[in-house]
Amino acid sequence: MVNTNKSIFAFTGHWVSDYDARMQVVLPGYNLMHEIVASYLRVTLASTSSILIIGAGTGMDILTLVDHGSRWQITGLEPSREMLQIAREKIESIHLPKRVRLECCRVEDFTDATLYDVAVLSLVLQLYPDYGSKRDLLRTVVRHLKPKGWIVLIDSYGECESSHFKQTVNALKVRTMRSGFTEDEANKDIESVKERFYLIPEKRIRSALSEAGFVCVEQIFRAFITGVWIGQLGD
Ligand SMILES: C[S@@+](CC[C@H](N)C(=O)[O-])C[C@H]1O[C@@H](n2cnc3c(N)ncnc32)[C@H](O)[C@@H]1O
Repeated sequence: MVNTNKSIFAFTGHWVSDYDARMQVVLPGYNLMHEIVASYLRVTLASTSSILIIGAGTGMDILTLVDHGSRWQITGLEPSREMLQIAREKIESIHLPKRVRLECCRVEDFTDATLYDVAVLSLVLQLYPDYGSKRDLLRTVVRHLKPKGWIVLIDSYGECESSHFKQTVNALKVRTMRSGFTEDEANKDIESVKERFYLIPEKRIRSALSEAGFVCVEQIFRAFITGVWIGQLGD
């Protein structure tokens, strides 16, 4: 059970209505990243596999997987009613109710006994305030996986006090300004990332995955401060 005194950022109001447009600017490669995840899952899973999306947001993870055309059964969990409503409208507009199920809940409160072939955790772990709560969230995810099940983890990360991280953040600011933001807006954006998210270095992400039981973890994408890792439960 994840137990934390610090509150987890809640997606409401303008954070929801701006979400899709904002991701195109603040996370360069957002669409490509989801495409790469779907491509890896195409060569990793059977066409009838089951996928658990934790933090379905406004539906990007699910819609990209569905667009890859296999017969995957997808369950999306999302505690923000506002985020879920946008995802639901998009999914209903492409007439996929049978293959996709949506639940308004956190993974910690999801009691369904179904075991999944893979869990996708996209931009959720960064909301958890410390190493212990991140590791416990990953352990909660494991309870919903089949033996030898897979995880895809997408998260912002870095050693925040290091010169390399500062260089990366400055490069991200340049990219944000090239997308039409002013310098002031780009600075505010980076500050908001630091306020809302709790980033840890890649080696800590790898050890949390390892402590939760995942082996052979590979990084399959990185853009500035965001990375994607794939791993499988060991014996
Ligand atoms: C930054 S959004 C990412 C949405 C989407 N996965 C994407 O890639 O754009 C993170 C989402 O995770 C949801 N979330 C936070 N904690 C969660 C939990 N414990 N279980 C399931 N979803 C959670 C939030 O409500 C939010 O919509």
